[in-house]
Amino acid sequence: MHPDVQDEPDLVAAYTPPRQEWLRLNMVTSADGAAWLKGLSGGLSSKADKRIFGVLRGLADVVVAGAATVRTEGYGPARPRESWLAMRAGRTPAPPIAVITRRLDLDLGSPLFTEAEPYARTIVITTESAPKDRREEAARNARVIIAGDDRVDMATAVRELRERGLSGILCEGGPRINAQLAAAGLVDELCLTISPQLVGGDAARILNGVASPSPMVLAQVLEEDGFLFCRYVREVGDEPSA
Ligand SMILES: NC(=O)c1ccc[n+]([C@@H]2O[C@H](COP(=O)([O-])OP(=O)(O)OC[C@H]3O[C@@H](n4cnc5c(N)ncnc54)[C@H](OP(=O)(O)O)[C@@H]3O)[C@@H](O)[C@H]2O)c1
Repeated sequence: MHPDVQDEPDLVAAYTPPRQEWLRLNMVTSADGAAWLKGLSGGLSSKADKRIFGVLRGLADVVVAGAATVRTEGYGPARPRESWLAMRAGRTPAPPIAVITRRLDLDLGSPLFTEAEPYARTIVITTESAPKDRREEAARNARVIIAGDDRVDMATAVRELRERGLSGILCEGGPRINAQLAAAGLVDELCLTISPQLVGGDAARILNGVASPSPMVLAQVLEEDGFLFCRYVREVGDEPSA
């Protein structure tokens, strides 16, 4: 419905990033701004939201998530999909998942680590001060990136990913990671699903951390079943032409 009205929008064209180095957040929120319902994002989502979630993963070189999101949402590796074949031509069949963690309190025997294909080994982005034994254990099944002393520095993490050829970064939250990426000026785009419901309570907003006002431009709005799918980009010139 914005910038023009189309009945069957081409989602791949609608979400293809305008350049290789691109960092987008993908989040769903209730109409009153809650980032979760009963502790999870699932209750805010819809069929169309899941379709767009899949397209965004298909278009990404790497999917980044905070450890709390990985723990609560039960992340596994991203599995290749037939619908990704064309959009991933010249790239690995699925993107790796990269987890940001300080404590490394992750189930290192879970499918996220043991079932990721060699081309999409899970990445652990952590710190010098993370427990050494956990770092060593993680390194058995994952690629470990050190991106800070006491805390992961988001700019360092992004640079390290890009040095490994992972330029197109999709961050799936949670709000604490998002806030740090935004504060570091690293967010090129926000894909925001607005779910038609009120939640109230004390759920965080999609950015939970230090204040970091940054103007965005509304580049696109899709709608299905009362759900709005908004794309906000940082600069007007970054809107894809397709
Ligand atoms: N609405 C949505 O679209 C959406 C999307 C994603 C998640 N969620 C919801 O959001 C909630 C989780 O989000 P959250 O904001 O609480 O947590 P989060 O951002 O997913 O993860 C926070 C964790 O990341 C690690 N971390 C954060 N900053 C770090 C830094 N600078 N250096 C090192 N490690 C760092 C820490 O892990 P360690 O504790 O391991 O050190 C920290 O506990 C869940 O309820 C989930 O369902 C909603």
